[in-house]
Formats: sequence, structure tokens, C-alpha cells
Amino acid sequence: KAFFRPIQSAAPPSPSKRRTKVSVIGAGNVGMAIAQTILTQDLVDELALVDAKPDKLRGEMLDLQHAAAFLPRTRIFADTDYAITASSDLCIITAGARQIPGESRLDLLQRNLDLFRIIVPPLAKYSPEALLLVVSNPVDVLTYIAWKLSGFPPNRVIGSGTNLDSSRFRFLLADHLEVNAQDVQAYMVGEHGDSSVALWSSISVGGVPVLGSLERHQIEYEEGVLEKIRKAVVESAYEVIQLKGYTSWAIGYSVASLARSLLRDQRRIHPVSLLAKGFYGIDEEKEVFLSLPAQLGRGGVLGVASVHLTEEEAKRLRCSADTLWEIQQKLGI
Ligand code: NAD
Ligand code: LAC
Repeated sequence: KAFFRPIQSAAPPSPSKRRTKVSVIGAGNVGMAIAQTILTQDLVDELALVDAKPDKLRGEMLDLQHAAAFLPRTRIFADTDYAITASSDLCIITAGARQIPGESRLDLLQRNLDLFRIIVPPLAKYSPEALLLVVSNPVDVLTYIAWKLSGFPPNRVIGSGTNLDSSRFRFLLADHLEVNAQDVQAYMVGEHGDSSVALWSSISVGGVPVLGSLERHQIEYEEGVLEKIRKAVVESAYEVIQLKGYTSWAIGYSVASLARSLLRDQRRIHPVSLLAKGFYGIDEEKEVFLSLPAQLGRGGVLGVASVHLTEEEAKRLRCSADTLWEIQQKLGI
């Protein structure tokens, strides 16, 4: 403390200047990949970690704190008690069971539904103004459950959804076309998982519509290749889980990109899981969360983009909604 002599005339920090706080629930592979990406990107002043295993949690906290000399200054703390999440701007839920090889995301539902009954009410109690960002699987149904359990307005409850699938899609397209993935605009929408829908008709590279330009030049585009890329996107997670046991880095970057758009009011468009009834012909009665290209800012979901969908794409999207609706009907929540 004696190291610096205080400058008497320096103004005290303005009480109106708010610190940005993010809580990450679940300090497993995914939670920690998100935490470390958020830290390296200097997105928050305070990071709270919550997990049910106190030793693992303290170990993870210390390990991150020990990187202080290489990171922007951030207060990192951790506890099994949800009180440490108080006044968060954003709560990211990653806790829960993950797939083992051979399991689908939907197979996790009952286990993770029970956990959400423990996790969501205290988060809503301690941070009634927060944005909730759900990552645990099956992410779309759990985002619906988080919405119901929190009592928050739907614009403040978001699932990471197909932001990740879209990145995989852009990576595979970029690889195929030999361009930079950041120049490829392409969306996967619908369920994060097996019934996700590739929006072929709106793919562009550097602003040039891909399918349109192929047709114009009368180049026969190979539907087989396109279908292979879509399948590869759907199978990506299964392949990584088979090989390394879980997925973590891509979801870490995907969620950090969402956190940036939300906390910094970037108003960027991301395909994320949101209350989709009434959009793109999805029945008004079907209270399902699934991914649509949405504008994200400090208020959460600010709007849904009107991307052109072919009749076939719209049909697949409605099928994705029906799949999720049927599952939710059986939950009785
Ligand atoms: P993991 O097993 O490594 O971590 C899960 C953590 O949750 C563990 O540390 C565990 O102690 C904790 N936990 C369990 N019960 C808890 C409770 N009541 N309160 C707080 N913490 C609790 O699993 P993981 O690989 O990090 O995956 C986590 C979840 O993320 C899984 O459901 C997985 O399917 C999902 N996931 C989603 C996406 C996506 O794109 N949405 C991507 C990857 C993984
Ligand atoms: C993913 C997880 C498993 O990486 O949902 O897609």
C-alpha cells in the first residue's frame, strides 16, 4: 500500500461508473474455455465462477488468477454459493451433463433440466436485471426452461444456439472455397444439433452471393458437395467428442463473441436461440426457442433479421421448431 503516494487532487472514481460483471456457472471444459476467452479479450471487470465441486472450482480460480501478469486486470472470484453472482450483467450457464460418444444432445435433457431448477432461480434472484446466456445442452430446450424459471422477459434469455454451428459452417465453406472464413457470411439456423438448417440461399463471400453467382455463370454447382458440408457441420461435434471427449475451444470463442456483442452493445447479427414463435412462419402458439439471425446489444435480443429463406429452408426450420415443441410438451413446465 505504501508503494504509491496518493495524489490528493485526483478525483475519486465516479459512483455512476459501473463495473461490468459476468458470472459463469459450471467450471468444466466449456465454462473454463469461455472464462479464459472472455479474460483474454478484456470484456469484463469482474468474473465470478460457480460450480458444485469446491476444490475443482478453487483450483480453476487460482490457475486463472496466476495469469494476472499476462492479462488485463480483472477481479476473478469463485464460490459454490450463488451470492457471488450478485449484480451480474451477464450470467452464462454451462453447468451440467455432457454427451458421451453415442449420445445426442437431447439425451441430456432430463439430467440437465433437474440442474436448471437448482441453478436458474438463484441467478434470477441475485441478478434480476441480468442477461441470461444458456450454453448447456440441449441448449434450445434449456433456454426455454431458463426463460420459464427466471421469469425474465424473452429478450434477456438467449441460447448460444447455432452461433457455433454457423462458425463450423463458415470454416468448412471457407476451406472448400479457399477463402478466409471471416469473409464468408453463412447461417445455420433452427435447433443447435441434429435438425439444424443450412441457409444455402443466403451464403455470400465478400458480399457476393455464392449460389446466385454460380447460377449466373451457368456453373453447375454440386449439390452433393453442399449437402456433404451441411452433414459435416452436424457431425462436427460428434467427431470432436469421439476424438477428445468433449468440445471446448470453439464454443469458448463463440460465446465470447456473443458476450462482446451483448456487453459492448455492438448490435451485430448472430444466429442465437431466442423465442421464435411468429418468425419465419413458426406457429404463434409454439413457444419454442431456436436460432434465428438476431441483432444483439446491451438489451439482449434487439431484433430478428429478415433473411430470405427458400420454401424448402422455411419448411426445414418449421420442422426443427416442431421437433423442439414436441419435446417441450412432454416436460410439463
Ligand atoms: P464438464 O463435465 O466438463 O463440466 C460441467 C460442470 O458442471 C462440472 O464442472 C460440474 O461440476 C458442473 N456442475 C454440475 N452440477 C452443477 C451445479 N448444480 N451447479 C454448478 N455446477 C454444476 O462438461 P462440459 O464439457 O463443460 O460441458 C458442459 C455443458 O455444455 C454440457 O451440457 C455440454 O453438452 C454443453 N455444451 C454446449 C455447447 C453448445 O454449443 N451449446 C458446446 C459444448 C458443450
Ligand atoms: C457442440 C456441443 C456438443 O460442440 O453442443 O456442438
